[in-house]
Amino acid sequence: MPADSGEATAEGQEKGSTKDDVSPSPQPERSEGVGEGAGGVRLKMRLVHTVRETRQAVTEARAQGRSIGFVPTMGALHAGHLSLIEAARRRDGFVVVSIFVNPTQFGPQEDFAKYPRTLEADCALCREAGVDLVFAPPIEEMYPEGFATTVHVAGVTERMEGLFRPGHFDGVATVVCKLLGIVQPERAYFGQKDYQQLVVVRRMVADLNLPVEVVGCPTVREADGLAMSSRNRYLSAEERTVAPRLYQALRAGAEVLRRGGTGEEAVRRAQEVLVSEPRFRVQYVEAADPETLAPHPQAGRPAVLLAAAFLGETRLIDNLVVE
Ligand code: PAJ
Repeated sequence: MPADSGEATAEGQEKGSTKDDVSPSPQPERSEGVGEGAGGVRLKMRLVHTVRETRQAVTEARAQGRSIGFVPTMGALHAGHLSLIEAARRRDGFVVVSIFVNPTQFGPQEDFAKYPRTLEADCALCREAGVDLVFAPPIEEMYPEGFATTVHVAGVTERMEGLFRPGHFDGVATVVCKLLGIVQPERAYFGQKDYQQLVVVRRMVADLNLPVEVVGCPTVREADGLAMSSRNRYLSAEERTVAPRLYQALRAGAEVLRRGGTGEEAVRRAQEVLVSEPRFRVQYVEAADPETLAPHPQAGRPAVLLAAAFLGETRLIDNLVVE
């Protein structure tokens, strides 16, 4: 992983180690401008579990003139998450990653209980990637007794993921709104992998005048085209070999659009490719306007193709933007 050189230093972070400090011990002596190891990797990273500690760390960083870049995640980190962290490191002086498997965005039949929880490995990756602060709250810290507020974004949540995962985007919007209120970053980084989520978050931030810039980052893929996802680890070896078909289907649809075909024609082509693999149970394939997600984009205009399908027990989503 490319490491930035000296863009931000570890100076001024918390003095001494705490029990939650996941830096290698003994602690390196810190002095002005010395915050990175020989490989350019920041050695100091804090893991905290409370809103109070997060606020304090962020306030200190800001007092040092560092801008705050924030990457919300549910952990089980992979190269897709790391690309967001790298984008944050390039722009911001203090990078915060949250790791919270948010129960309210999972449906009752979904995989909340079995969602991978790999905090130690995630922290090791974050440290190597130069993250300054990991915020990994327990559920009670985010949803204490008496919690009563839901953020509902209308319109863009009504189709696709919103249709097949009722309540999902209420959970996402509410937790992202809370996390933005806790971290108060200058910028928050989201992957285009979850395209509809990115559009929902942009809508919420605009509608609620949240003082944050939402940065969308490209989807990171495996060599065979499969979009990286924490859920890919559920796939059996056999399922894994056919999983890239989802992306191939979107590419076939995109080709139709590039040749001047309509959204409907592109969707039909993508569906053909998908159903040729009987192990896929397709939930939707749609063409939409990349900014608003309105259906039926005009031929010759930018469009995004989005799809969701089950492969065995694993639900995969992917999308492709055609400029
Ligand atoms: P999670 O699935 O952990 O994803 C965290 C962020 O990583 C999201 O912005 C997602 O779009 C991005 N991401 C995932 N896979 C990616 C890939 N292959 N390439 C690029 N970016 C990728 O999305 C969530 O968590 C949650 O809904 C969350 C926003 C944290 C709210 O709970």
